[in-house]
Amino acid sequence: MHYFAYRNNELYAEEVAVRDIAAQIGTPVYIYSAGTLRRHFRVFDEAFAGADHLICYAMKALSNLSILKLFGAMGSGFDIVSVGELMRCLRAGADPKKIVFSGVGKTDEEIAAALQAGILMFNVESRPELYRIAEVARRLKLKAPVSLRVNPDLDPGTHPHISTGHRTSKFGIPLSEVFDYYAEARGLADLELVGLSTHIGSQITDTGPFIEAGEKVATIVRRLKADGIALRYLDIGGGLGIPYQEEPPPPAEYAAAILKPLAGLGVKIIAEPGRVLVGNAGILVTRVLYVKQTDVKRFIVVDGAMNDLIRPVLYEAYHAIWPVQKFEGRPGVIADVVGPVCESGDFFAQDRELPDPRDGELLAVMSAGAYGFVMASNYNSRPRAAEVLVEGKTMHVIRERDSFEDQVQREKLVEFQS
Ligand code: LLP
Repeated sequence: MHYFAYRNNELYAEEVAVRDIAAQIGTPVYIYSAGTLRRHFRVFDEAFAGADHLICYAMKALSNLSILKLFGAMGSGFDIVSVGELMRCLRAGADPKKIVFSGVGKTDEEIAAALQAGILMFNVESRPELYRIAEVARRLKLKAPVSLRVNPDLDPGTHPHISTGHRTSKFGIPLSEVFDYYAEARGLADLELVGLSTHIGSQITDTGPFIEAGEKVATIVRRLKADGIALRYLDIGGGLGIPYQEEPPPPAEYAAAILKPLAGLGVKIIAEPGRVLVGNAGILVTRVLYVKQTDVKRFIVVDGAMNDLIRPVLYEAYHAIWPVQKFEGRPGVIADVVGPVCESGDFFAQDRELPDPRDGELLAVMSAGAYGFVMASNYNSRPRAAEVLVEGKTMHVIRERDSFEDQVQREKLVEFQS
């Protein structure tokens, strides 16, 4: 569900014509809908209303300061994976007591910064990390709140690059060692053992794997309790998919499914949704530069590229492509939508049926809010796109397009000796 819709054959973002944004800001441009972001947060939050819970938005999905501020104002906490993300959410006014820190490779500096900020907890992924956090905490004379991230060893049925819950993945601690870990962590005076976490993967479109993970972690939490380790938090991670093409369960169904095995544990549930909050709330608008017909294919060459949205080539991801203006009676054509980058992997769609786009027209790559702008790069010395947030009739530029100077400002021209 989102607030990008046609009015008289013109695509609107809420109350603003997409064509007007493109004319004013240029292309490629990411456009987000504030109403959609708010609605998604509300629906997800309400889905967990029956349980004591905290939503920690997985900000890696879309981390613009204004987006973080919008979610923070709705009561969201944040799931972070770097000191950069910590600083972003603090800059946006986040409550540190609602921040959880995930990831397999936290540096000493990152651990120290998070401890000093007073975050809710670290999701610990290995034994050496556990000891490192204890060491940094001791040095700072602070107590580190930790949760152990368990790898539940299951197949979430998603793309291998975004699957994290199988025991062959680098994430989490093995099921077979969980109790040893807790016993060991309990003996470390600089740690406070507050939780258990898991995260099985992303773009999951079936409740089955969530239920399986829920059952496994519930068994662990119960046994820990029996062993005298009463946890405060159970962090179920993120991972709920969006309808790029598939039909994932709605948040209420997902929440009901995952909460069932967790009933009666006496813990606060933390959820780390990323994609489901922001994915459909953003589009990437790009302009057709050329239509190139070869003897075997039709290529729609646009001004957006893989440096702006890498998901199609990286995950074989499907993104719907809509014309910003619909023309009655246009025939459909089968074409590849490609960018200017010098790689064959630079495409948004392949062999896609489209209403015969022509030079100069605008296309909207849909469902681009999650893992779109945040994975953008300056490859081919292309500027990263501008970001615009629409709120009703108002549009806010929340990030300007990179200038050339932005791209080269940290580079040095060497004074060569010869
Ligand atoms: N929590 C943890 C510990 C995570 O690693 C992730 C995502 C999330 C929460 C949020 O998952 P979500 O609700 O968004 O599925 N770039 C890829 C997705 C990478 C996901 C990484 N971890 C893509 O574009 O599909």
